[in-house]
Amino acid sequence: MKAWRASLLWFDGSAEPARSARYEADGLLLTDAGPDGVERVLEVGAYQSLYLRLRDQQPGLTITELPGRIIAPGFVDMHIHYPQVDVMGSPADGLLPWLENYTFPEEKKFFSDSHCANVATFFVAELLRHGVTTAMCFASAHVASVQALFAQSLASRLRVISGLCLMDRHAPEGLRNDTEQSLVDTEALIEQWHGKGRLGYAITPRFAPSCTPRQLQGAGELATRYPDVWVQSHVAENLDEIRWARELFPASGSYLGTYADFGLLRQRAVYAHCIHFDDADRALMSQSGAAAAVCPTSNLFLGSGFFDFALASAAGMQYGLASDVGGGTSFSPFHTMLAAYYVGRQALPGTPGRAGVSLSPQELWWQHTAGAAAALGLAGVVGNLLPGCDADFVVLNPQATPLLASRTGQARSLDELLFALIVLGDDRVVDRTVVA
Ligand code: GUN
Ligand code: ZN
Repeated sequence: MKAWRASLLWFDGSAEPARSARYEADGLLLTDAGPDGVERVLEVGAYQSLYLRLRDQQPGLTITELPGRIIAPGFVDMHIHYPQVDVMGSPADGLLPWLENYTFPEEKKFFSDSHCANVATFFVAELLRHGVTTAMCFASAHVASVQALFAQSLASRLRVISGLCLMDRHAPEGLRNDTEQSLVDTEALIEQWHGKGRLGYAITPRFAPSCTPRQLQGAGELATRYPDVWVQSHVAENLDEIRWARELFPASGSYLGTYADFGLLRQRAVYAHCIHFDDADRALMSQSGAAAAVCPTSNLFLGSGFFDFALASAAGMQYGLASDVGGGTSFSPFHTMLAAYYVGRQALPGTPGRAGVSLSPQELWWQHTAGAAAALGLAGVVGNLLPGCDADFVVLNPQATPLLASRTGQARSLDELLFALIVLGDDRVVDRTVVA
């Protein structure tokens, strides 16, 4: 058994996200390894009461004392591209030129085993350094890229969900996969990696415009045959992209409907962006149990548009936050939460007079931890510190910079403390990341 004494932040599953954060200024977190070697939370609560009980039951227990620090759930990044680390900060007039001029040329480099291993090592270290302990990741269209990411994640104990990027058209030579081989490779990778340690596989059609109907059909058949495997793709990010998808699949009722038509809209399916949706799309997402990965830094950087938090919630859609590196501009969950706040504040176009929303700090934090975990179908497994959750947590220093020390020192409520961290925080706040 391990014991950690610090301020503790976690989420009470019974309350509304905007009010569900729990904070114990002097707390104790107890963890223990399960038969599978994964360390999990045993108890979380006030130091005084837990310690009094433990003193008698576990007299030899050593407690890791972390004065002035906050232990919080490890962050869950619902959508990130590992082959795009070196695409970050590439300017373009929107998504499609960005893909063609920067992203596809960079992803072509992942034919090389050594390149994959080098970038995977860097990428996993960077996620952990920023406090991310679960990530749903795109690999490239090369099997080697998937092998490298899973191998590195297994070694570092990061919980990664990933898969071979399916793209058999409208991509350059060297990045396009052969249709049938890509499906054979996907199935072999599922058998090799899904459920190994904490890893999960995601069937990964890049987006409808990069896949032939036969490739989407094959992906959908695999999604039916392997119901506990995830699906990940992109939808309704950019107006030119949507026009193109509608031209390529005119028989579908909408861009999102194309995925539904091929059996790719179901629980454990995660669609990045979901910006330019109508009510029918939101209802389809909600009924199918699919989830949206909201990528605010990417959407602001590429000028894609603004996710509608209010309508998504009203429709009962599941969603959570994501960096979408390299369209996204930061690995830091703090930057992503702040960008989500900016996006929420936007008065949305097409609805005159409709004001933006002010997402509460607790809700923003929840959407990047327990809420994102729930959207991935991993509630009670990651993203929280309730008993039974994997012991994935960050040790935060609220005094990491002079300005943070001043602002957090004056916080009069939990919301004020969390908001100071969201607005002023970044990787400097993350003292340490502990996984499993
Ligand atoms: N749509 C298809 N591929 C991509 C990608 O790599 N990034 C983003 N943001 N959107 C996409
Ligand atoms: Zn993406």
